[in-house]
Amino acid sequence: MKHVTMEFLDEGLNLIDQRKLPGEVTYFRARDYRDVKLAISDMVVRGAPAIGATAAYGVYLAALEYSSEPREDFIPSVKEACDELASARPTAVNLTWAIDRMKDLLDDNADKPVDDILDIVLARAEEIAAEDVKINREMARHGNEIVPAGAQVLTHCNTGALATVGYGTALGVIREAHNSGKGIHVYADETRPRLQGARLTAFELVEEEIPATLIADSVAGTLIRDNKVDLVLVGADRVAANGDTANKIGTYGLSELCAVHGVPFYVVAPTSTIDYNIDSGEEIEIEERPPEEVVEINGARIAPEGIAVYNPAFDVSPAENITGVVTERGIARSPLRESLAEFKE
Ligand code: MRU
Repeated sequence: MKHVTMEFLDEGLNLIDQRKLPGEVTYFRARDYRDVKLAISDMVVRGAPAIGATAAYGVYLAALEYSSEPREDFIPSVKEACDELASARPTAVNLTWAIDRMKDLLDDNADKPVDDILDIVLARAEEIAAEDVKINREMARHGNEIVPAGAQVLTHCNTGALATVGYGTALGVIREAHNSGKGIHVYADETRPRLQGARLTAFELVEEEIPATLIADSVAGTLIRDNKVDLVLVGADRVAANGDTANKIGTYGLSELCAVHGVPFYVVAPTSTIDYNIDSGEEIEIEERPPEEVVEINGARIAPEGIAVYNPAFDVSPAENITGVVTERGIARSPLRESLAEFKE
């Protein structure tokens, strides 16, 4: 992608404002950890790996802010900020994964001078961001093996450079397959209600000149039934130990369609998205977002006042519908519980 998703510059985090894409390419500047929390909850930045890296920079901004406090208050104050950041969105485990890494770092270095801790915390945030791009490239390499030449690939939501620090997860595999000359074509679901597919995935696909067609979410069933889709690739916000996977609302329906029609359905996610602490998808908290996302499009009301709205942001696809989980360490295949366990650190 021509634009960077995030860049830490002059003690602030610049985030491409994904609420405004594709109409406007502007950057939101997060100057403190409260701005970072707002950027995550208001979806300036979104996508599981991207919010993890963003939060890591948020922890550094909190450390910077509290560095002038009395020494004994410094670590507790930064840790409180960590908890606030972690509460910005509940479903993507990458957020707590990144923050827990930062908290461990604070504990391990608690006795050092504050200036040293600041350097260590910033270096770890930069490392998490750089690691994400490396991991995405590894996943793309593994994932490319499952994409047949000339494949019609369907994807949901945005899992590209915008959803990560760079390159992407499911869209990273698509990028890799395209760049390796496989002559693939992509169907991108628009992804109501926030239209991550129409606004963000389409933006990345057009920019990279990857042959693609945008469809309303409800078209996927017809395409899959009519043998027009060879492979479905999606990302994940949290994968339970048994392989049940939470991803953008609408993913579960796709997984069922694939199971019924015998179409391979792959999840592409870094191992940081696997939550080994939960046994199944039943334990995954599903975020509910404001009704405005459903009754308005770009601020214009499309439904009558007074109508009730149910707006879960994610759903859970059961492990039995998932052909495999592509990670940076290789592809986990059914039975997923056993094969995912092999990727545990
Ligand atoms: O609500 P969003 O836009 O943050 O949801 C994003 C998704 O569901 C993605 O598929 C997931 O985070 C994986 S991104 C590489």
